[in-house]
Amino acid sequence: MHPATLALLRAPDAPNGSPLSLTETRTQRRGEIITGTACAVDGGCYPITGGILDLLPESLTLSAAQRSNFLWPTTAYYEQVWRVRSLSLLAGEPFPVRREIGIINRWLRPERGGVFVDVGTSHGLYARDIASRLRQSGAPGTVIALDIAMPMLQRARELVMQKGYATIDLVRARGQAIPVADGSVDGVVNGGAFNEMGEQARALAEVRRVLTPGGCFVCMSLLAGRTRAGRAMQRALHAGSGILFPTVAETNALYRDAGLTITDQERYGLALFTRAVPTTEGSQQ
Ligand SMILES: C[S@@+](CC[C@H](N)C(=O)[O-])C[C@H]1O[C@@H](n2cnc3c(N)ncnc32)[C@H](O)[C@@H]1O
Repeated sequence: MHPATLALLRAPDAPNGSPLSLTETRTQRRGEIITGTACAVDGGCYPITGGILDLLPESLTLSAAQRSNFLWPTTAYYEQVWRVRSLSLLAGEPFPVRREIGIINRWLRPERGGVFVDVGTSHGLYARDIASRLRQSGAPGTVIALDIAMPMLQRARELVMQKGYATIDLVRARGQAIPVADGSVDGVVNGGAFNEMGEQARALAEVRRVLTPGGCFVCMSLLAGRTRAGRAMQRALHAGSGILFPTVAETNALYRDAGLTITDQERYGLALFTRAVPTTEGSQQ
């Protein structure tokens, strides 16, 4: 956790999103806090362990899908086994990660620099790509990568360290309570986490709250099946796991109600890519 990123963060449980400040540094490496404690003026104190800030030290109520993200082998092999194949299976056509990342970058434009948040980062696929674009462009930027599962964040940290990305900071936090101030983020991304977060309206309201007026949200989410059999399977999956599969119309209504205007949308089978910006008076859908 870099002190400059900590200065952008807010305590999730404090009134008015109280700023966090470092109260103890036990280990530091190349300007990064590896072990320490950050406290909010009028909130709690939070541990930094292995470079990761944990804003959720208390236990969480989790769905079965969310619980799976704490368990081996999901935590160890999520990206290299499932993620590299998932979009091709969901889209029903060849969809390598570079094609997916191509859409995200075209809409997000990370090379412009700024503050980016990756919600439900898992192993940091989108966050690492943003960091790589920032490195290539030389633009100043920070990526705050959030997840509720510490084992996922620990694996993300290993991958981040392998690449030497100093612009990514990993934080254990919920997408429904993004730990930053109002209007302070230039881009929020969400790759597949939207469906398993629950409280989707709340998650989108948080995205709206944190975006700057010129900021954007780029999301890859999963859709309800087109066939009756597909939808029945998804209902069973939802009952067992808590994963939600809204239709395009339901998804778009959630965005509209959260104050987000959709500027771009592409559908590939069950995968939906959406870019949205804060709604202004002139951009009502
Ligand atoms: C489908 S994976 C996302 C993968 C990642 N974005 C990618 O593109 O490879 C969903 C991730 O979201 C996390 N997650 C689930 N609910 C969350 C919540 N409410 N807030 C933040 N992260 C959440 C899970 O722990 C899991 O790591």
